[in-house]
Formats: sequence, C-alpha cells, structure tokens
Amino acid sequence: MRSSSGQRWAVLLIAAVYWFATTVCGQDPPAAYLQTPSAEQLEWHRLEYYAFVHFGPNTFTGEEWGRSQSTPDVFKPAALDTDQWAKSFADAGMAAMILTAKHHDGMALWDTNTTTYKIGNGAWAKNRTAQGLSADVVKLAAASAKKYGIKFGIYLSPWDIHRDPAMPKAKLADTLYDEPQIFGDNSPGDYNEFYAKQLTELVTMKYEDSTPIELSELWLDGNSGSNTVQTFNWTNFRNIIREHQPSAIMWGHQGVDARWVGNEDGVTVATNWHSISRTQDQEHYSGDELQTGVRDGTYWTPAEADARIRNGWFYHATERPKSASTLMDMYLQSVGRSVNLLLDVPPDTTGQIVKSDVDILLQFKAQRDAFLNRTLLTPGLEVNASSIRDDNSTFFGPGNVLDGNFTTYWAITDEETTGSIEIDLGGNHTVDAFITQEHIALGQRIGGYVIDGLVDGDYKTLVRGTSLGYKRIDTLDEPVETSQIRLRITQANATPLINSFQVLGV
Ligand SMILES: *[C@@H]1O[C@H](CO)[C@@H](O)[C@H](O)[C@H]1NC(C)=O
Ligand SMILES: *[C@@H]1O[C@H](CO)[C@@H](O)[C@H](O)[C@H]1NC(C)=O
Ligand SMILES: *[C@@H]1O[C@H](CO)[C@@H](O)[C@H](O)[C@H]1NC(C)=O
Ligand SMILES: *[C@@H]1O[C@H](CO)[C@@H](O)[C@H](O)[C@H]1NC(C)=O
Ligand SMILES: *[C@@H]1O[C@H](CO)[C@@H](O)[C@H](O)[C@H]1NC(C)=O
Ligand SMILES: *[C@@H]1O[C@H](CO)[C@@H](O)[C@H](O)[C@H]1NC(C)=O
Ligand SMILES: *[C@@H]1O[C@H](CO)[C@@H](O)[C@H](O)[C@H]1NC(C)=O
Ligand SMILES: *[C@@H]1O[C@H](CO)[C@@H](O)[C@H](O)[C@H]1NC(C)=O
Repeated sequence: MRSSSGQRWAVLLIAAVYWFATTVCGQDPPAAYLQTPSAEQLEWHRLEYYAFVHFGPNTFTGEEWGRSQSTPDVFKPAALDTDQWAKSFADAGMAAMILTAKHHDGMALWDTNTTTYKIGNGAWAKNRTAQGLSADVVKLAAASAKKYGIKFGIYLSPWDIHRDPAMPKAKLADTLYDEPQIFGDNSPGDYNEFYAKQLTELVTMKYEDSTPIELSELWLDGNSGSNTVQTFNWTNFRNIIREHQPSAIMWGHQGVDARWVGNEDGVTVATNWHSISRTQDQEHYSGDELQTGVRDGTYWTPAEADARIRNGWFYHATERPKSASTLMDMYLQSVGRSVNLLLDVPPDTTGQIVKSDVDILLQFKAQRDAFLNRTLLTPGLEVNASSIRDDNSTFFGPGNVLDGNFTTYWAITDEETTGSIEIDLGGNHTVDAFITQEHIALGQRIGGYVIDGLVDGDYKTLVRGTSLGYKRIDTLDEPVETSQIRLRITQANATPLINSFQVLGV
C-alpha cells in the first residue's frame, strides 16, 4: 500500500513538474542578457533621426566658437519663425529638434535669472517684449515643436567661455556683462552650482499656458577649447534631469543615457555595440573606441551620430548644404548601423531655416522613403526557422519578424546560440538591401550574422555582418536575382532574438 501510494505521488510530482515546465516556465520570456535599455532608451532608439539647431550670437557674427565678446544686441533675427523650423523638420520626417539654449560663448537664449549675458537684455528682445511678444527663443521653439508633433531637446554647453578666466573678454569689460569668472576648479565661486541652476531652469520650464515642457534629450557637450580644468558634477546634473524630466535622455561624451559616436560626420564603423564600460567621470575613450563601443559592456550607453547639413554648426552665408545623396549615405552609416542620426540644420540671420536646406531635407526624405518603401516581405508570409523556443510559434515563432510589432520576436530554443530562418519570395526578385532588427529590449546578444540568397538553386552569401543591435540596413553593391532568402545567426553570446527582418527590392 505504502509503495503504491509513493508511486502515485511520484507520478503526480512528475505531472506537476511537466505542467510547471510547459505552462509556467513557457510563459516567461527568455532571460534578459546583461545590460538592457531602460524604457526611455528603448523609445529613444526608435527616434532614429532628428534635428540639431545651432542658433545664437555666432549666427550673427559668422563664428563657430564666438569668444563671448559680443553684447546681446548682436542677436537680432529679422523674422524669427520657430514654427517654420518645426514644420520643416516634421515635413522632413525628423522626430525631434535639439536647440542650443547656450553654446560655448555663454549667451543664454532663454530668459534666465543666472546671468545678465542673455538675449533678453538685447535690443531685439526688448523691442519684442514691448510689442507683447515673447523673446524667449527656447520657449518659442518648444511650443513650435509641440505644435508640429515633434519632440524637443536642449543643448546646454558645460564649457562656458563667458565664465572662463582663461578666455579674455576685453570688449565686455565694465559692462553689465562683466561677470565673475567662476569656471574652473581653481577659480573662486562654484561653476557646478551655476550650471545646475541653469539646468534646473530649463528642465522646469513651462509653456505659456503653464503646462510643463517635456524634454526628450539634454545634450551636455563634452567639448572645451581652453586649458582651464573644471571637474563637472555629472551625478548632480543627472539627478536634476531625472527629478524633473524622468523620460529625457542625458547625452554626454560617454554617458549617461547616450554617448557620442566619436566623430562629427554622422557615421560609424560596421561593428558598433550599444554598451560601453566607462562613465562621464572616467578617462575618455578615443573616437574609434566610441564608435565601436564595448561588447558586453557595463552600461547601456548607445551612440548618437551628430552631423551637419553644411560645413559649420552655425549658419554661414558662404556655405552650401550637402546633397540629398550624401545625407542618404550618412543615414545608411548611422541609422543603418544602429546609431541615431542628429543632423544640424542652422537657422540664418532672419531666424529661419533657409529654403535650400529645407529642399535638401525633403529630397533626402523622398529618397529615403523610396528606398525603404520597397519591402518584399508582407506580414503573414511563411517563414521557416531552424528551431522555435518551446515550439511555441505564437509567442516565439519566426512569423513575428514580419508582424511589424516591436514587442514580438523570433526566439530559438534556449540552449542554442545559432539558428536561421528561410523565406520563399514566391518567385524571382531583384534584391538590393535588408533590414534586420535584434530584440534589444532583452539585451544585445548577436555578434555574427549572414544573409544568403538562393541563386540558380544554390545559396549565395550576400551579407556578412558582426554586431546587429537596434537596426541594421545592409545594402548590396550589386542587386541580385533571387527567389529565397536565408538569415543565419552565426554567433551570439546568448540565445539570439530577432525582432524584425525585411528584404528590399523589386
Ligand atoms: C506559448 O507561450 C505563451 C507565453 O509564454 C503561453 O501563454 C502559451 O500557453 C504557449 N503556448 C503553447 C502552445 O505552448
Ligand atoms: C526668474 O525669477 C522669477 C522671479 O522669481 C521667476 O518668476 C522666473 O520663473 C525665473 N526664471 C526662470 C527662467 O527660472
Ligand atoms: C521694433 O520692431 C518693429 C517691428 O518688428 C520694427 O519695425 C522696429 O524697427 C523695431 N525697433 C527697433 C528699435 O529695433
Ligand atoms: C555632486 O552632487 C552630488 C549630488 O547632488 C553631491 O552629493 C556631491 O557631494 C557632489 N559632489 C561634489 C564633489 O560636490
Ligand atoms: C509607399 O508606396 C505605396 C504604394 O506604392 C504608396 O502608397 C506610399 O505612399 C509610399 N509611401 C512612402 C512613404 O513613400
Ligand atoms: C504586439 O504584440 C503584443 C504581444 O503579443 C500584443 O500585446 C500587442 O497588442 C501587439 N501590438 C499590436 C499593435 O498589434
Ligand atoms: C518551409 O517548410 C515547409 C515544410 O517543411 C517546406 O515545404 C518549404 O519548402 C519550406 N520553405 C522554405 C522557404 O524553406
Ligand atoms: C530565377 O532566376 C534564375 C537565374 O536568373 C533562373 O535560373 C530561374 O529560372 C528563375 N526562376 C523563375 C521562377 O523565374
């Protein structure tokens, strides 16, 4: 009796374990791998392409790095129209704009209480105010961004020439703008406190109707052109941003939420990881190291590639915009390599984006759309996979790579790190590009992939890639006639997860 009861218990136990394994465990997604993006970073990856707006005294003096020698009277846009900026960017398919609230010269574009050196003290602003018009360019730009449905971010230069004792400002001596030289660890006064106040004003700024302005990104430039050593309190700046703008990304040379790509050309190298292993407070990586990132690094700090539509960051009448094709190449080497593209499009002295640049942005959009709009794979098309996690095609099946849903993905069985999917194109097509997205919500895992096309009955290797990440656009030098495509994950440090796969051609 005892033993038969024991057997019954054993059978029940096995049944319970089986039920637990298939039902309870099967319901868990694969375990996250090392670092993963925060919800805010994940949203930020999806912005992909947005505008940088360099505007300020340099616009009127023709400089790039003004020496803080001009009074605010220099800032006098003849026909400022921030709506025109926002509309142009929205029409161009840009997701946001980031405005220089204060560049290195130190002149503030918003109505700050931290310094007299602000456009608000110039003749242009006083005239506007007298007419009942706002002269706070940061607030005006934020309102325009909202009106046209794009996000708004702020650049606030940590290096401040206006406060830097190493930068002589003879022309401002004995004026209202002759302010204490507090920049530098050895200077009297606390520059960190000053900067924190400026940051606080900006992150708590409100629209005219008193609702808070939501910022998508705070751009804390790593640049300095003087020998004055100033140790910044990045922790404090981060705390201020987190407290008032919890959904904003804090951009810095190597952190906190997003990093510099190591050049100002809007491009990165083929192998590019979303993580690094240093913070803002540590020794700076070289430009090459910033491009590559660190595989399995300590922090999820993805790269953003900044670039200029013209030669300068600020508007200079003698310069011309790059061509739409040049921007398309840049796009493929930034967004196409899992890195966001931040393209500077500077307003001129009227305070508007010039027509030639708007035209180029729209041509670039048309070229991009025409390229991306040649998708050969439609949702529901049959996709074969080498294996499927738990044999559960609903949740982990390869069809998920075609469903256009950013939360679903194809997963192979947990024990494996390589695998493949195959898709019949239903006849011959001329194929020239592929778009592949890793499911980064659970970490960056893949370090090798290959895309093959069936040509005359044999698979021919078309693409050989390393890191995948948020999004890869692989283009072929020569289009290929093929009827079937295979994506192979050849190396991964944990079970690979593919969010999306697309074939472009005709
Ligand atoms: C598939 O997985 C989901 C979630 O993990 C689970 O709810 C569902 O029961 C599974 N289906 C099968 C057939 O195993
Ligand atoms: C400057 O101070 C005034 C008076 O306290 C306040 O109303 C205003 O909001 C401050 N400006 C900024 C940009 O914080
Ligand atoms: C003030 O602005 C008005 C309208 O833009 C302009 O006609 C006038 O010349 C300006 N006055 C000064 C002193 O700039
Ligand atoms: C930096 O800011 C943090 C947070 O406000 C503060 O605790 C810390 O003391 C500051 N560090 C320095 C060196 O002042
Ligand atoms: C993509 O192509 C379809 C049909 O060819 C067209 O209706 C649509 O407007 C195009 N979209 C873009 C963004 O070009
Ligand atoms: C995406 O997939 C998730 C998980 O299956 C589902 O809950 C969600 O409704 C889907 N979203 C769309 C837009 O279909
Ligand atoms: C997918 O699998 C089915 C069933 O095994 C097979 O008939 C079909 O040829 C396969 N298709 C591809 C593209 O491998
Ligand atoms: C596809 O193209 C290949 C190579 O050009 C050719 O051999 C094959 O017959 C074509 N298949 C179809 C279905 O047209």
